[in-house]
Amino acid sequence: MTTPRHFLQFSDCTADEFDYLFKRSTVIKGRFKAYERYWPLEDRTLVMIFEKASTRTRLSFEAGMHQLGGAAIYLNTRDSQLGRGEPVEDAAQVISRMSDIIMIRTYEQAIIDTFAKWSRVPVINGLTNEFHPCQILADIFTFIEHRGPIKGKTVAWVGDANNMCNTWLQAAKLLDFRLNVSTPAGYPLDPAVAGVTDTGCFEVFADPYDACRGADLVTTDVWTSMGFEAEGEARHKAFANWQVTDAMMSVAKPDALFMHCLPAHRGEEVAADVIDGKQSVVWDEAENRLHVQKALIEFLLLGRVDD
Ligand code: CP
Ligand code: NVA
Repeated sequence: MTTPRHFLQFSDCTADEFDYLFKRSTVIKGRFKAYERYWPLEDRTLVMIFEKASTRTRLSFEAGMHQLGGAAIYLNTRDSQLGRGEPVEDAAQVISRMSDIIMIRTYEQAIIDTFAKWSRVPVINGLTNEFHPCQILADIFTFIEHRGPIKGKTVAWVGDANNMCNTWLQAAKLLDFRLNVSTPAGYPLDPAVAGVTDTGCFEVFADPYDACRGADLVTTDVWTSMGFEAEGEARHKAFANWQVTDAMMSVAKPDALFMHCLPAHRGEEVAADVIDGKQSVVWDEAENRLHVQKALIEFLLLGRVDD
């Protein structure tokens, strides 16, 4: 059995492969917009395992697999044996014998790493506590669509040093852009999680305004991620000054974009004026999950395709 290719972290692909994936996403998106049938994955099955809630991830993977001619099956912890303590190693061996590709949304990265180790087929990270690589794939594709190459640009991250922030950090190193990070005291970025030790690609700022100064893209996410709900009240207090406001956007470049992976909480991590304003590209960002993930699935199953 050959070892399958997985996408468990952003750093699982090279810069050259991302270049291919972004170009391929444009082709796949164009076909979708033109209502062209493209079924390279007829008879292939995607299994999606969710241990946390989702709207966009489930919908984009499920719709995407159908649009590629394949089938998608949804499993969750609540009504499968996964929630009753079946070992991850056993689940991976069984599920990967009945499917062609697997997407997992779970808690610790160690769970998906173990699953992938025992899987016969490619495994895609649909969000873990540590990373959200499919979202950053969509975010960078969205940036490229609006502003061209991201190389050399500056991305400001305001808020929690969470799975999104860790993934931005991996992307900054790989794709050669700068990441400015500002998080409240007590919630620092740990670059070791992303395995990024060289400080050349990122800088930490105590003041979120300083992180946004001159940025090409300002982005944020919820103050309390899934799995951390018990900390919600304390976080609400600590993060009060880390709301992306018009004033914060005004110190970024005049044509800076705003992104948020969604779901958003207006009046918490972002002001309504910003997310619903002219610089926001959040709806393109959400839609692009569909297109980039179709390109990713195709790549993991068929390799580079040029038709
Ligand atoms: N952005 C994102 O992953 O959304 P869902 O939680 O709805 O899947
Ligand atoms: N950081 C958020 C992202 C949700 C898509 C979470 O993990 O809950």
